[in-house]
Amino acid sequence: MKRDFITIDDLGDAALVELMDLADRIRGNLRGHTADLPGHVMGSLFLEPSTRTRLSFETSMQRLGGRVVTSSDPDTSSTVKGETLADTVRIVDSYVDVLVLRHPLSGAARLAARLAKGPVINAGDGSHEHPSQTLCDLYTLRCERGPIAGQTVVLYGDLRFGRTVHSLSRALVRFGATVLAIPDGDLTLPPFVMSDLAERPGYGVREVVIDDMEAIFKRRGVCATLIAPRAMLPAAGAGPATLDLAGRRVSAIYVTRLQKERLAGGSGGGTLPILDHRFLSSPTFNESIVLHPLPRVSEIARELDADPRAAYFRQAALGVPIRMALLLWCCGLVDLPKGPERQSSDGAWVEGRCANPSCITAKEAPEWARLVKGASGTARCDYCEEAASGA
Ligand code: NCD
Repeated sequence: MKRDFITIDDLGDAALVELMDLADRIRGNLRGHTADLPGHVMGSLFLEPSTRTRLSFETSMQRLGGRVVTSSDPDTSSTVKGETLADTVRIVDSYVDVLVLRHPLSGAARLAARLAKGPVINAGDGSHEHPSQTLCDLYTLRCERGPIAGQTVVLYGDLRFGRTVHSLSRALVRFGATVLAIPDGDLTLPPFVMSDLAERPGYGVREVVIDDMEAIFKRRGVCATLIAPRAMLPAAGAGPATLDLAGRRVSAIYVTRLQKERLAGGSGGGTLPILDHRFLSSPTFNESIVLHPLPRVSEIARELDADPRAAYFRQAALGVPIRMALLLWCCGLVDLPKGPERQSSDGAWVEGRCANPSCITAKEAPEWARLVKGASGTARCDYCEEAASGA
């Protein structure tokens, strides 16, 4: 079976741990791997802006001794002439050994994986997932804070359209972390993520009152109300509605920017206080590291850059060893334990259409549309995971 990496659930827990162990070994000798993938060519097809993800994948392939062909400007690719993703993928796949795709529409990577004969890596598909960023995030958490089980991680910002947190929350829950979702205004984690998390065994999703956060807001004179903060706690069943943050050490605050390019008609956002020294002086957060997938716009004060708790530049640097490890697996050079948590296309296909206008099957590939029955029995799109129309 070819080794696609479309969602974080394509790799099971043991595989993720082994991938991080491999990244540890690579990191100790970054320049010593040029004999690993000679003769291999990676196609990087980025139909949406990127700096870190594309350059870290390309650096990774070069450090492994492979070569890279790249199409990084949608305006100079055949997309502007009206070529569909399906056709582009079929062509590039016939040139290369592994394809890394970023696309503005949700579900694009799953479609590409269905069409390509070689492995496909999802480098971000619309507001759906960004699993290789999650590898980098988990790896950073492990390097900086140790084993992920038992950690408390705050997700802070645009949680609806920020695709990185969709992949990350799934992974954190799998490893037994407590996840606290603090959305910017009404930009909460989308239903397809929340319902999935709620179905994970041994977990409970709760709307919570977070006393300490309200206190931080008040102390700063910020007039902000937390809308639907939620905690994903490793204990199912009824539980407290108030999470006593004061009693917990938050190991990391993961900040995301407002995804302005995906906000329809200026809805929501801009309500959370900027992360700065005063924010981190609260007892709950004074030992927290600050993570961000970057690019940062104005969510984190620049004064924090020199603070040792600001881990976002270290996080970006770790993107290379972990992506080198991922490429070694995708290209068949190393094996990882089998047993993905959940295959997205496990369920039986059912009739219907995807209701998400930003899904690849709604926009340009209706003939590929597939719905599957989720664990709760409702139909969802097999590409973007949103609920089906009328479901
Ligand atoms: C993120 C992305 O593209 O989803 N960036 C990244 O890949 N490092 C986050 C963002 O654009 O805000």
